[in-house]
Amino acid sequence: MTVSDAQLIETAKRARLRAYARYSGYRVGCALLDERGEIHIGCNVENGTYPLGSCAEAGAIAAMAVAGGRRIQTIVVAGGFDELNTCTPCGGCRQRIAEFADETTRILMIDDSGDWAEYSLAELLPMSFRLPPD
Ligand code: THU
Repeated sequence: MTVSDAQLIETAKRARLRAYARYSGYRVGCALLDERGEIHIGCNVENGTYPLGSCAEAGAIAAMAVAGGRRIQTIVVAGGFDELNTCTPCGGCRQRIAEFADETTRILMIDDSGDWAEYSLAELLPMSFRLPPD
């Protein structure tokens, strides 16, 4: 069974409903599809010690890693206060995505009009850092 963009978008929106965004009120959900066709989700989880909060993408990527996934086919980010805004991944999350992305990885952002924007990692993070091979 192949997972459609529409399914992944709905899953990211549902994950957003679980966001723990007590301090900013800005709720983010993320759903990603790994190389095996498995879906992993995350939401932002804030903390009273503000810098300790974590992004939705970080949660979804951690869930993928522990499930054995190693490459992101498609990642959807859905965020906003009440309405959905186009939530572009923060700089740190771009680097997190880069670790598990290749040139075919698609990064989607959904807004409240139902439209989505699609980018490649090269568009969002040109010259991303990679450790040289051993
Ligand atoms: N946030 C994410 O979860 N992902 C992003 O890519 C951008 C920002 C969260 C962090 C914080 O909990 C809230 O959105 C507002 O900054």
